[in-house]
Amino acid sequence: SYPKHVTIVDVSPRDGLQNESMTVPTAVKQRLIDDLIAAGVKKLEAASFVSPKWVPQMGDNSALLEALAATRQSDVSYSVLVPNMRGFENAIVHRPDEIVIFGSASETFSQKNINCSIDESIERFAPVAAAAKAQGIKVRGVISCTVGCPYEGEIDPSQVAYVTKRLVEIGSEQIGIADTIGVGTPLKVQRALQAALEYADITMMSGHFHDTYGQALSNTLAALQMGVSEFDTSVAGLGGCPYAKGATGNVATEDVVYMLHGMGISTGINLDKLVVAGERISEFLGRPNGSNVARALINK
Ligand code: HMG
Ligand code: MG
Repeated sequence: SYPKHVTIVDVSPRDGLQNESMTVPTAVKQRLIDDLIAAGVKKLEAASFVSPKWVPQMGDNSALLEALAATRQSDVSYSVLVPNMRGFENAIVHRPDEIVIFGSASETFSQKNINCSIDESIERFAPVAAAAKAQGIKVRGVISCTVGCPYEGEIDPSQVAYVTKRLVEIGSEQIGIADTIGVGTPLKVQRALQAALEYADITMMSGHFHDTYGQALSNTLAALQMGVSEFDTSVAGLGGCPYAKGATGNVATEDVVYMLHGMGISTGINLDKLVVAGERISEFLGRPNGSNVARALINK
């Protein structure tokens, strides 16, 4: 049966912008986040605390978090990605609500994305998770390439089970199943989820689906049918990963919200206001809005 309420985690300020070639000013990111919150978004990924040499677009992470402090909403969860203790130390001064540690079910993607093996990444994440917990900050793990990898092709579900096990062991309270390059189809996504469920409860799971092959909304529904009630989505369908060539945006928040509301599932989000948020950032980036629902509502 379907959940009655779904938590939407808008990842556009992070996943949506990390891959942009143009420099997005901190003030524009701040406005995007303000617009998302005005639309009723209660959880978002504000930034990542990774190396600015690797991902220049996230180089203003501290400046952004500092700017956000003035209007920080107590009922909104601000998450940040952290790959290692260096990132944690930079992030912690801003008191994020949640730390996201991000691993991979593919060895090669792990090397390309965070410059270490899967097992080494767990060793780096363990002190991050422990330090976050000691400070009362939530820890969520996300696993990239759970169905397919740009370097290795299809990924065996046993790899997803293994990484889930390791992340849960070091204290990850939630596990995100990511289809980094959007190659997944519903039954494959369900198999990846099923594998993770060997070591994690369904209430811990979330879905993170890129829409490269147009499968992300179907994959969202497939996860929803298994009882997953949290999804990472990106307004206007922005997104991509600099270390996953050809990967396009995440499933559009507007499209997921429209589907959920149409199914009688609440999100707390106002779709019209969400469309405004997506239009503003698309206009700034000079891109067509990547959400079907947004385009339909605008042209109505
Ligand atoms: P490394 O080079 O192996 O790290 O990078 P290192 O520890 O050897 O340090 C090298 C230099 O980087 C040093 O500086 C460190 O201080 C610095 P130097 O002495 O040369 O001047 N450094 C840092 N600086 C700032 N913040 C840090 C940090 N760590 C080291 N946290 C590292 C390892 C992980 C840092 C690097 O590989 C990296 O930043 N990778 C970027 C990964 C990334 O952001 N990818 C995109 C996000 S993941 C994603 O999009 C997938 C997701 O959406 C789910 C999905 O769709 O699949 C989540
Ligand atoms: Mg992603």
